[in-house]
Amino acid sequence: MNDENLKLKLLSLPVKYLHQFAKGRIHRHFRLGKRQLIDCLLALSPDQKKAIVAELQQRAPLSTKPEAESTIAQHHSSFYPQPSSPHPDSPGATSPSINLEDLLEGIGVPEHAPFIPDAWQRHAIEAIAHSDVIVSAPTGSGKTFVATEAIKQAIASNHTVIYTSPLKALSNTKYMEFSQQFGTDQVGILTGDRRDNAQAPLLIMTTEILRNILYDATSGDPDLRLHTLGLVILDESQYLADPERGVVWEETLILCPPDTRLLLLSASIGNPQELAEWLTSIRPSTSCHLIRHTKRSVPLRGIYLHPAGQLVPLFENRDIQQRKGFRFHPETKRLFKEYEFKSLH
Ligand SMILES: Nc1ncnc2c1ncn2[C@@H]1O[C@H](COP(=O)(O)OP(=O)(O)OP(=O)(O)O)[C@@H](O)[C@H]1O
Ligand SMILES: [Mg+2]
Repeated sequence: MNDENLKLKLLSLPVKYLHQFAKGRIHRHFRLGKRQLIDCLLALSPDQKKAIVAELQQRAPLSTKPEAESTIAQHHSSFYPQPSSPHPDSPGATSPSINLEDLLEGIGVPEHAPFIPDAWQRHAIEAIAHSDVIVSAPTGSGKTFVATEAIKQAIASNHTVIYTSPLKALSNTKYMEFSQQFGTDQVGILTGDRRDNAQAPLLIMTTEILRNILYDATSGDPDLRLHTLGLVILDESQYLADPERGVVWEETLILCPPDTRLLLLSASIGNPQELAEWLTSIRPSTSCHLIRHTKRSVPLRGIYLHPAGQLVPLFENRDIQQRKGFRFHPETKRLFKEYEFKSLH
């Protein structure tokens, strides 16, 4: 089969098959789009291309003669399910029949209700009094409440608190929030751009600034705040796994004084148990308590803008439920088929 025919054949296949052919043959093929993948496959050695043709023939016996378009469409249909509805001229020309009210139902400001801490929040607050704590709980579930209660406990016992976030913008937001809650004289901020009330008992800073303070302390230049430091809160602590900045979180955890309690907050640590074990191993004088809460208080919905200009659910079930699996909404499936079909014609 010549390159031109092979190209036509590859073009007619879903990209997942192309990745199968590329596996072990093309470095980092998973980063490539369909066109780039095909270019790379065609640039392989004649022997490698022969092997790919053999694999193709195993999937479906293929003619080595140049193909007429109709033949390609035939092969295409053996790999692709055909759109069930009649084809419009352009994808998305048809409007989906979706009930928008149902889709957006429940979104808005909730009714006022008395604040009752959840059991996991209470457990976390109890645990931080005597151990390091990792809180792994979904977005919007109330990790800040745990942080503020822990801050109150620390300040009440005359300790200082450092609260770090990975972003200057988040640090600024927390500075405003905590200033309202604890009073402006109680809160300070230290970021690359800003230095206000640096001797306050509660200091907000980026994790890099804290790491630098801890570095200075190891080189015999202890910052006065470290003598009274009772609690360090690392918000968004999943940054520990960040390929570039993760080392900053790692060094901060390693260099943190052993008598200082650590509170790590995150919605997306994949291996919190492993992290808890590691923390215990590097801080043998302190146990580490893992608080894991998986139930979402704020449901997650997948919605996208349909080419016809309407909001459409991505999945069959309106709310995405963890570990329940999901199926695409019939309208989404239809649209995908339409796009795949269109991309080949
Ligand atoms: N026990 C509770 N009952 C009802 N609402 C709560 C409770 N705890 C916290 N909240 C509210 O939930 C909202 C989200 O809380 P918060 O900002 O702490 O989320 P988070 O867990 O830090 O999320 P993220 O991962 O996005 O940072 C806030 O408005 C907060 O007041
Ligand atoms: Mg938060």
